[in-house]
Amino acid sequence: MVETPGTVLDCPFLTDDAVSALVVAVAPPLEEEDGLQPRAGTVDAAARYGIDLAELADRSGGSSFRGAAGEVTTVDLPRTHAGAANPLPWAGLPSTIVLLGIGAGSDLELRRAGAALAGATRGLERVVSAATADATPSGVTAFVEGYLLAAYRTPRFGGLAPSRKVRGPAPDPHAAAEQLVLLGEGAEQQILAARIAASATWLVRDLSNTPSNIKDPAWFAQQATGLAGAAGLETEVLGPRELAAKGFGGLLAVGAASASPPRLVTVTYVPEDAEQHVVLVGKGITYDTGGLSIKPREAMVPMKTDMAGAAVALAVVLGAAEAGVRHQVTAVLPLAENHFGADSYRPGDVLRTYSGRTVEVANTDAEGRLVLADALGYAIAELAPDLLIDVATLTGAASIGLGRGHAALYATAPELVTGLEAAAAATGERVWHMPLVEDYTSALRSTVADLRHVPLEAGGGGSITAALFLREFTGGLPWVHLDIAGPARATSSRHEVTEGATGYGARLLLRYLTDLR
Ligand code: BES
Ligand code: MN
Ligand code: ZN
Repeated sequence: MVETPGTVLDCPFLTDDAVSALVVAVAPPLEEEDGLQPRAGTVDAAARYGIDLAELADRSGGSSFRGAAGEVTTVDLPRTHAGAANPLPWAGLPSTIVLLGIGAGSDLELRRAGAALAGATRGLERVVSAATADATPSGVTAFVEGYLLAAYRTPRFGGLAPSRKVRGPAPDPHAAAEQLVLLGEGAEQQILAARIAASATWLVRDLSNTPSNIKDPAWFAQQATGLAGAAGLETEVLGPRELAAKGFGGLLAVGAASASPPRLVTVTYVPEDAEQHVVLVGKGITYDTGGLSIKPREAMVPMKTDMAGAAVALAVVLGAAEAGVRHQVTAVLPLAENHFGADSYRPGDVLRTYSGRTVEVANTDAEGRLVLADALGYAIAELAPDLLIDVATLTGAASIGLGRGHAALYATAPELVTGLEAAAAATGERVWHMPLVEDYTSALRSTVADLRHVPLEAGGGGSITAALFLREFTGGLPWVHLDIAGPARATSSRHEVTEGATGYGARLLLRYLTDLR
């Protein structure tokens, strides 16, 4: 009867055996109302369960509970003693009532409400929600998405740890989705969309949270091959010998000092009658020590997530296949560990990139643009893209400028910007349009090579000069660059964004590709 979220419940009521919690939406009063207002589906639920939920909301909310999105209060109803002569009036109700703030009920607010619900009902078996009974289709998607995103748990690598608290690997979002049942009209399509988006985000989080002693380029390539194979997608993996033969001078130099050599992975989704071919290039540095231009101690700590861009590209191609996006999508993942040692590339070296253009290395910690240059060159030469999109944890400058809330967005055409801004508004994964300042291209001038890879003088604008460098390898094709150094990680959980790797970018790009005409 209650199988998947979105099941339309036509039974007269659910007993407390089947349902752990009943969720009712509550909103701040509108002008003409007093007190908290029970919202969507409350009347329905009240009739179903025979309880005055409006009164309950008013009584239990407490003064701090305003019904804003993200606020949540739970009421545990006392149970009747087994031998009691008179059952309590609420016998038959779930033992927990969740009063969930939804504010004005916008998609963003419903996503936050869904996230708050996941926090409040963690571990419960069956949560029945009336909160989206009045919501629009996109509101339902946002609510379920928020719930699934916040239900994520970081994988724990517990060995023989003394604690019983050691959790297993994170459950998959499809399993998490089974806890939630929506009262109201059937919403299978909305729920499926939320599941696909959340799966993509979870994958990016899982890959990015995996420690780098496990996650070397070969391991990442294997994960990609396994996942793509299971989805029926074609994969190609180039190892160090093939990379050398084909002239991947940037990727090989960056990975030269690592005991785990580089890979280049290509995963392709081809729908019938594909409209455009979009190539997603993701920076896949499985660990970034900085190389000989070594990072300071504290700056190095989070660098296991420096492959988040590659994880996003992979998750998006898988998600695009699942969602039946109408465009051909290819993910290109240049994977390397930026380490140091006797085989290190050095500041002052001149590298020959895939495209044939030579680059003077100035700082081995600017490795991302080198592996991306090769991957972009390869994409242009081999894949005939209509649109190039790269995603990368590229510069600390982007995160200093914009903080953790926005990715720096660069694009070569206005419709690319509006498309991504629309996707950002829809998903809550925010972007900020940055300028490709032509004056700064002088920073890329080298006296010994075609290009210098970081400016000689510290003129600021580090995210911009990195973007300008990448543009040199896009062959004049329509191109989008997302510098996700800020939003790829979070220091604490907030709403649907979880601590550690956030998975930022997967939902944004999936939405962009879904809406692309
Ligand atoms: N992976 C880093 C960028 C980064 C920094 C991501 C902080 C997330 C948080 C990148 O490879 C890097 O080291 N960039 C340098 C570039 C500089 C040497 C021109 C930077 O931002 O300092
Ligand atoms: Mn670096
Ligand atoms: Zn890096």
